[in-house]
Amino acid sequence: PRSIFFSRHGESQFNVEGKIGGDSPLSERGMQYANKLPELITDNIGDAPLTVWTSTLQRTIQTAQFLPYNKLTWKSLDELDAGVCDGMTYEEIEQAYPEDFANRDEDKFNYRYRGGESYRDVVVRLEPVIMELERQENILIIGHQAILRCLYAYFHNLPHEDLPYIKIPLHTVIKLTPRAYGCDEERYTLPI
Ligand code: F6P
Repeated sequence: PRSIFFSRHGESQFNVEGKIGGDSPLSERGMQYANKLPELITDNIGDAPLTVWTSTLQRTIQTAQFLPYNKLTWKSLDELDAGVCDGMTYEEIEQAYPEDFANRDEDKFNYRYRGGESYRDVVVRLEPVIMELERQENILIIGHQAILRCLYAYFHNLPHEDLPYIKIPLHTVIKLTPRAYGCDEERYTLPI
């Protein structure tokens, strides 16, 4: 059976600073993850064919850089667009837009950032990616937190209200193997 692997990019400079969105490079720890990822993947699938999908953002491309497989970048895999809040910390957002901050807490799936996107918007933009994923063999997606929550919820059939809270930790590969009913799942965390 074919497998779908998900991983967030390695820790980025913005992750370290607690800022959302942006297009920052990997931190030193993030680079260590990029360095160790090839061995984890090849130990897992041996010489089976695999294609790596990234977003257009440099933190995913850097994370994929040492993987010895064909790669494809998708604009549709870019992180949820936080609009006017892009590049801010959650604390700064709460200060600048207290009502928005409360509304997001109230209905995180439907909350749309000013000038940006909601999780619902992201689910819609991921439709073509999911269509293509369904047709492919082994795929590794190096993605972003919000994006991987949406893809994970699709394959596990999780409800919209739970989707924005799914835990997708850094430096962890999630392996999904679709079965007749549902998906088997394994997780591998690299100690970095
Ligand atoms: O902080 C990393 C990040 O990927 C941000 O770029 C993004 O806005 C956020 O996580 C999504 O998580 P949440 O919807 O819980 O704020």
